This record gives sequence, C-alpha cells and structure tokens, in this order.
Amino acid sequence: ERLYADDIEAVLRLKKQRDAVILAHNYQTPEIFHCVADIRGDSLALARAAQTLSQSVIVLAGVHFMAETAKLLNPEKTVLIPDTHAGCSLAEGITAGDVRALKAAHPGVPVVTYVNSTAAVKAESDICCTSGNARRLVESLGVPKVIMIPDEFLARNIEAETGIEMVTWPAHCEVHERFTPQEIRQYRRIHKGVTVIAHPECPPEVVAEADYSGSTAQMQDYIAMKQPEKVLLVTECSMSDNLSVLFPATSFVRPCNLCPHMKRITLAGIRRSLETMETPVSVPEHLQPRARQAVERMLAA
Ligand code: 13P
Ligand code: SF4
Repeated sequence: ERLYADDIEAVLRLKKQRDAVILAHNYQTPEIFHCVADIRGDSLALARAAQTLSQSVIVLAGVHFMAETAKLLNPEKTVLIPDTHAGCSLAEGITAGDVRALKAAHPGVPVVTYVNSTAAVKAESDICCTSGNARRLVESLGVPKVIMIPDEFLARNIEAETGIEMVTWPAHCEVHERFTPQEIRQYRRIHKGVTVIAHPECPPEVVAEADYSGSTAQMQDYIAMKQPEKVLLVTECSMSDNLSVLFPATSFVRPCNLCPHMKRITLAGIRRSLETMETPVSVPEHLQPRARQAVERMLAA
C-alpha cells in the first residue's frame, strides 16, 4: 500500500529540483488539491495563472484541454500532464471540421468556444469562454446570435440568462448530464432548507431547480458569501470534498458524479511525472497562432 506522505514529500522535493509549479483543477482529489498544488481553481483561474508563472515547468493536475491551454499560453515552457488519457467528453464531442460546417451554415455568426475543446477546435473559433465568464463574454459581443460550442447545455443555460440566440452542438459533459430535476427535488424533500448550486454544464431543467448556478470557483465564492448551513453541489464529487475542508461550518449533501478523466490524475502519477518529465504536451505549430488568439481574446475581454 502506498503512503500518501511519501508521495507528498517526494512531489514537494521534485517541484524545487525541476523548477516546477503544480496547477490543480477544483475536481482534483483532496491530497492533490490541498497538499501539493500551488495554484487551485476553475478553468478560468488556471488559464489566467498560466499566463503569469515564473517556473520553467508546469504540471497540470487536470484534463488534457487544460494542459493544452497552458501550453498555448506558454509555448516556451514544458507543460506536463501526468496521464495523457485524461480527456473530456466535451472536447471529444466536436471536431474542427464540424466547426467549419457550422460556420458555413451560419455565415457571419461569431463562434464562442468553451475552453473544454481541442486546440484544433479553438483555432476555428473567434473567442473562447469558460463557465465563469460565458455570460459576460457573450453579452460583450453585442450580437443577437452566436454559435456556442461544444456544450449544448452551457449554451442553453446562457441563452436563458441573456436572451441571445444560440446555435448549439449536441455535446455534453458526461458527469453533469446525468443529474436530473427529480433527483434535486428529492434531495430538497430530504434536506429541508438545503442550498442547491448547479454547474452550468447541467441540463437546463436541472439548473432551473437550483438556487444558484456558476463555475466551480463561483460555487466556492457563493458559499463564502452566503455561508449556508447545508449545501448540495450538483457537480463532480471532489468539489464537495475540497470545499468541506475550507468551510467546516457548512455540511455538504453529496449526490455527486465522478469524472473518470479527472480521476486519472493521482498523487503517484504526479510524482512519476516530475521524476520522468513525462508527458510533455505539444500543440501542432500550424494551430498555435489561431488557437492562442481565441484564448487570449477571452483573457483580455
Ligand atoms: P470550471 O471549473 O471552469 O467550472 O469547469 C468545470 C469542468 O467541468 C472542467 O472540466
Ligand atoms: Fe469534461 Fe465533464 Fe470531466 Fe469536466 S467534468 S473534464 S467537462 S467530462
């Protein structure tokens, strides 16, 4: 049986030796999130942080599209992902060819692409967004209609909030699409007075049952502000595990779903990655300028 303490000690030592920084998404398990990560956050926070780092090596404790985004913003640095198979059903749900077909069918309509996408798809896009800035970005375009890909539910949720017409694509997050409104109503009956917070990757009928909807970082901010007694986070399981450490006075009801991709990243895997410097992420040269532009436009907006 492995001892977490051995791996934690080794990772902390290797970080110094390799001049490395660990960026961890909010869905990473607590021993990664609380014990070895240097920067923690939602997709937006990780992308922003990736712009400002002094270390020469970035270890991305998260899924592949996050590592690719970090590499786009830091072409001269080594960006390591501990498991190259840590994918995402949204990123895998659309191709660059699909985006070109959508643009041909809707000429002149801007393409807003969720960061949960490949660099090839980003390269076909006007601007990226995350769940934390989607509403503000879409509104800032000042147009009545946008192509918002690949997450159909995020697009429909933003459409409901803004009234801006969305051309959508039928890709979903395999974690959030599984929640149902019946399940939320049942939890409300069992846990009277519970505050329900749903991620905008959930189906619109699930978001309609929630008290608040926001990115994983916005969930954290909302709890910090409202300090509810009891919370139901309609999202990936590690979110409640990590926040329950930060908010000991709040109790967390857990009808969560696991993301099998996020869970491919382990403490032992991070250690191995720093020992072997595997696996560096690369973005094909010809995609870099256009994909980087879509991400940088988002960060500048
Ligand atoms: P955020 O952390 O940006 O809310 O994204 C959630 C998610 O599913 C990332 O894969
Ligand atoms: Fe992709 Fe959903 Fe997993 Fe996030 S939680 S990486 S959106 S499959």
